[in-house]
Amino acid sequence: MSDISESDCITHLLCEGAQHIKRLSHKNNRAIFSVILNGQKYAVKFFVKSGNGVTYPFVAHCDILPSIKSYAEHQWRHIVLPDIVRVQPDTIAGPAVWMTWVQGSQIKTQDDSLLLDTLFPLLNELKSIPVDFLIPLGLRFYQQKEIHKDLRKSIGSLVKSETIKRSDIHCIENAMTPLYEIEDSRPFIISNEDFRAANLLRVNNHQIAIIDWDGLRASQFEIEHCLAHMLLFLTEEPETYKRLIDTVSTSRLVDVEIFKACCVLRSIIQLRFWQHQPIKKRFLMDSLNKTLSLN
Ligand SMILES: Nc1ncnc2c1ncn2[C@@H]1O[C@H](COP(=O)(O)OP(=O)(O)O)[C@@H](O)[C@H]1O
Ligand SMILES: [Mg+2]
Repeated sequence: MSDISESDCITHLLCEGAQHIKRLSHKNNRAIFSVILNGQKYAVKFFVKSGNGVTYPFVAHCDILPSIKSYAEHQWRHIVLPDIVRVQPDTIAGPAVWMTWVQGSQIKTQDDSLLLDTLFPLLNELKSIPVDFLIPLGLRFYQQKEIHKDLRKSIGSLVKSETIKRSDIHCIENAMTPLYEIEDSRPFIISNEDFRAANLLRVNNHQIAIIDWDGLRASQFEIEHCLAHMLLFLTEEPETYKRLIDTVSTSRLVDVEIFKACCVLRSIIQLRFWQHQPIKKRFLMDSLNKTLSLN
């Protein structure tokens, strides 16, 4: 797989007649631009090229997301999803999707009522989506096997760089027990996996758009995962962090033991990515220690 070429993306967009092309983000396996075409604003996302064009993030955007939207949009009061208006599986820059531009502002993470007033209603609505009808479309599941794989990869790298000690491994693996012992009857819930402020846009007082569905997945601990993931990005201030943990822990949406396990899992996974950035590393180590000491 080759990296995405920004100039190929721009060439493609220009050929389509797009104007005011602005890069929003460019990573090795995806790039996203805002453009104006015929007076309308769009977000155009390019995915890494693959032989037949079917990389999972592309499938998630062009097949699964529209199905979720048509199933749920009449029932949801709080969640807004971008419309996928055009799918281009084979541009010179790779597969691309065109989405409607969501007019909104990034949610404010310092807002105290964030969890109760903003996030819980969103998670409650995600909970209402059944997953069965999405399986034939290729929906990904995140289960024991995937947890093992992620943990093995992250722990291996963190031990090698001496970020964590070999003697910590047992404690980390023990902390995963609630995830491994989830009852079969616990329902699967979907999310965009990367549930955090950067991917949530406030549209109005009641509605939030969830964007960035590259990692769309279903798991039996998705609400706990989303909250753990969100908290990791939310605050470095100990008092606020504690208050947020208390709020989460007393919510009827959350199983506290599963939530704590998710906090450990997320810290370990994020640490692998940020282990060479001293400030982020320190914050993640702190939050790992905090969450492990919660157990
Ligand atoms: N449909 C959209 N409407 C408005 N803003 C968008 C839209 N899609 C993306 N953005 C903006 O672009 C940023 C990057 O897009 P995103 O899909 O999250 O890319 P990445 O996978 O690089 O995180 C978002 O954080 C958001 O600010
Ligand atoms: Mg994003």
